[in-house]
Amino acid sequence: MAKLIIQGGTPLRGLVRAGGRKNSAVAVLPAALLCDSPSVLESLPAIDDVAVYGDILQHLGCKVSASSVAPGCNGAVTIDPGGLQPAEIPYELTKRLRASYYLLGVMLARHGAAQVPLPGGCDIGLRPIDQHLKGLRALGAEVNIEHGVVNARAACLTGTSIYLDVVSVGATINIMLAATLAQGTTVIENAAREPHIVDLANYLNAAGARVQGAGTDVIRIRGVNRLNGCVHAIIPDEIEAATYMIAAASTGGDVQVNNVIPKHLDPVIAKLQEAGAEVTEEGDRLRVRMSGRPRAVNVKTLPYPGFPTDAQQPMTVLLSLAEGTSIVTESIWESRFKHVDELKRMGTNIRVEGHTAIIEGVDRLTGAPVTASDLRAGAALMVAALAAHGETVISGIELVDRGYESVTSKLKGMGANVRREQ
Ligand code: EPU
Repeated sequence: MAKLIIQGGTPLRGLVRAGGRKNSAVAVLPAALLCDSPSVLESLPAIDDVAVYGDILQHLGCKVSASSVAPGCNGAVTIDPGGLQPAEIPYELTKRLRASYYLLGVMLARHGAAQVPLPGGCDIGLRPIDQHLKGLRALGAEVNIEHGVVNARAACLTGTSIYLDVVSVGATINIMLAATLAQGTTVIENAAREPHIVDLANYLNAAGARVQGAGTDVIRIRGVNRLNGCVHAIIPDEIEAATYMIAAASTGGDVQVNNVIPKHLDPVIAKLQEAGAEVTEEGDRLRVRMSGRPRAVNVKTLPYPGFPTDAQQPMTVLLSLAEGTSIVTESIWESRFKHVDELKRMGTNIRVEGHTAIIEGVDRLTGAPVTASDLRAGAALMVAALAAHGETVISGIELVDRGYESVTSKLKGMGANVRREQ
């Protein structure tokens, strides 16, 4: 288990650059398999989830240029789907990330059959995929689950109208992927509107697809016969940016986050300002300054453009230090307060009742040994450690590597006293 050791209590100051968006990268990587020729993907983040996706694509017979889809490597990666084979993907790979389920839509569209073990990903409660399967069935696929593997088969996918019972990012993406090469037009109603859905649509359209309406709750996909690989740059990761913005505010610091699309961060900016932070925007940069104790604010997570669930865990740390009582309501995931028990070891006063955390602010946190239970829980512990007095040792930091690139050097760049140990 790798550990991050942080001597906290020093305000973060300086610059940090957000990388490419994790949840966009893990959708565009499988989408590249829909094409007849190679795609060049730029700004892929150097995170473990991207590295695992690279391994999955290679397992399926694709060429992934050099070893550049690996932690520590940035920049352009070429995905050549020329050798794509309809192979079952080993559970050892799919269990390591949620987004492996996008191969259902992709392999159905390309080969008329898909065998994908039920996906893994963060342990944040029940994560059903009924809306993915409903969508694929509506397009004409026969789908069953046996021995932990989703088997899907379709002689031909045919466009239709699909209403999602819940707003699901994953189901929206999976249906878009399958419908791109289907016959006729597919309409997804009650679609998710996250910016990475727009990013995926932009990639698909650049490759020759006909996707309209991404970013609204009705997406129309007119099926085409083939797609050609193209060059596409992944959009910046707003959750990585949000995490560093919240860390800046929690430590009473002054940090400029570069490479952001400020609009994507509106709900986070609004809550930081309500808590007393000064946030200024200039082009693709956001500067966050905080002096004095934060004010208590209430936060409710919602699908985009609401406050993102993926920033909820770090945000609870800032509110733990606020003057007064804050209420955080998690409306997306069943069990996304697992970081709270660990935060209590650092002196927070938080009570969890079902989907709500009631946070009584304290004036200081103290370092302690803690363990990350999931990706964003790890990010929250990192923020708490930076703000706390004394030393915090965070175990299980590999979970953070899944979604945050070069954590140690980025934190050091903002003046943090941090080191990593295996
Ligand atoms: N849901 C269903 N049925 C489905 C699919 C989803 O009931 O078939 C429910 C879920 O249980 C949840 C809600 O719908 O209550 C939303 O789930 P969604 O499908 O939108 O989530 P996801 O696609 O599995 C993605 C991100 C998550 C992020 C959520 C919400 C990826 C790979 N993961 O998950 O990211 O929290 O959208 O924005 O894109 C993270 O990055 O830390 C992370 C967990």
